[in-house]
Amino acid sequence: MKLFLKLLTLSSLNFAIFAEIYNFPSNFVWGAASASYQIEGAWNVDGRIPSIWDTASHKNNSSVVDGSTGDDAAMSYYYYEKDIQALKDIGFKTYRFSIAWPRVLTKTNQVNQAGIDYYSKLIDRLKEEEIKPMVTMYHWDLPQYLQDLGGWTNPAIVKYFEHYADTLYKHFGDRVKEWITFNEPATFCDGGYSWGWHAPEIRTEKQIGGYLCSHHILLAHGAAYHLYKNKYFADQQGKVGICLNTGYSFPANENVTDEHVDRAMHFGLGRYANPIYSVDGDYPRVMREAIDQKSTDEGRRWSRLPHFTTAQVESLHGAADFLALNYYTSSLIQPYSHLGWNPADSDSEIHSFHDDNWKRSSSSWLVSVPEGLYHLLLWIKDNYNNPLVYITENGWSDLPMTIEDDGRVEYLREHLAAMSRAITDGCRVETYTVWSLTDNFEWMRGYTERFGIYAINFTDPERKRIPKNSVDLMKQVVRDNFVEV
Ligand code: NOJ
Repeated sequence: MKLFLKLLTLSSLNFAIFAEIYNFPSNFVWGAASASYQIEGAWNVDGRIPSIWDTASHKNNSSVVDGSTGDDAAMSYYYYEKDIQALKDIGFKTYRFSIAWPRVLTKTNQVNQAGIDYYSKLIDRLKEEEIKPMVTMYHWDLPQYLQDLGGWTNPAIVKYFEHYADTLYKHFGDRVKEWITFNEPATFCDGGYSWGWHAPEIRTEKQIGGYLCSHHILLAHGAAYHLYKNKYFADQQGKVGICLNTGYSFPANENVTDEHVDRAMHFGLGRYANPIYSVDGDYPRVMREAIDQKSTDEGRRWSRLPHFTTAQVESLHGAADFLALNYYTSSLIQPYSHLGWNPADSDSEIHSFHDDNWKRSSSSWLVSVPEGLYHLLLWIKDNYNNPLVYITENGWSDLPMTIEDDGRVEYLREHLAAMSRAITDGCRVETYTVWSLTDNFEWMRGYTERFGIYAINFTDPERKRIPKNSVDLMKQVVRDNFVEV
């Protein structure tokens, strides 16, 4: 970090303020992120089969707040050249996008050539423009026919996913060198199978569905990782990771201890990160003990948190070449016991909430806590032996949508500065992809929340990508490799 004097001219007044410069390493890679269902449209075109998000959004009285769907979205299936142009205009060197499982495999698990051709073209064009493709295999659009078999709660899905991963490595692995198996399992497992506010909208008591889903996600991730190492790595020489999301848990007051903070972090991030990145593997001990005990107290014959076999623990341990991290926001935490409260549905027994002073976005869950990113990166470094980290999502939503997105500009500046400080303090962060390249379908919030650095008017048949002010910020950051705060 360097201090420098900035001369500001305001009408006839000249005055000086101090700004701080936060640098990034010379090999740092900048880019943007997106996801298939949120941008592609063309939901029933060229052999694409229905996904759980088609089902959820097409329902009468669907839970999508504005009644919208991803049927057309940003129409990237047709206008992917516009996305590439938008990336190029900024100078981004990587593009994180996801492949839609329902586009590349049929119901009988045959290759759908039209789907393969689409992604092949996209990848080729990115490479021609010297933009590295970073591919997420699963960003929530599960084929509906697999959900009809129980989806992520059925152990059989591990094999289906392995076959899907095999198809992707086989067709794209010559050109794709960075693979992310899953995007944010905590969001879609809990949202989809515990609380019911995400497709496939299943509610189960006491997080039973969410824990089953998580368990199978971890096994599927391990299967895809080892498949790559055993069958493809020698030729393709790429990396495979998983994308996890969490905030940092700040103690709400001086009675909240480091143990409480660690407990909250383990129930959030550790649930997926420990089996893969921790020295001893398996679920975090605090989770194991708490949920086993509660399950016994509930009169169950087995734990709601499934057990790994010893062989599975060993196989998952170290099964990632990087950690893809999505960071948006953080919380204050306090054990419920300090509040004299014992909610039946909290296995962690930790209450988390926002400080009223934190700046709010148009999403109720998203407040700006840049310091949380700094602390989170250090927590990961200390707890998981300093893994290679890519920040694969970070961003801000505004409503009403505006080109003058100063809230986003400020949010991004402060978060990039926090990331720079963490790198200075030894964290191995090498890539940052902003969420998101364009406005898109924000799941149950439909088009009411806009995360893009390019705006899209969803009634415009051409879906022009219109730069917001944050595009200028990203251009400057890419050009200078520093951010000014
Ligand atoms: C994380 C998800 O991966 C992405 O799909 C979503 O749009 C953003 N969060 C913003 O909510």
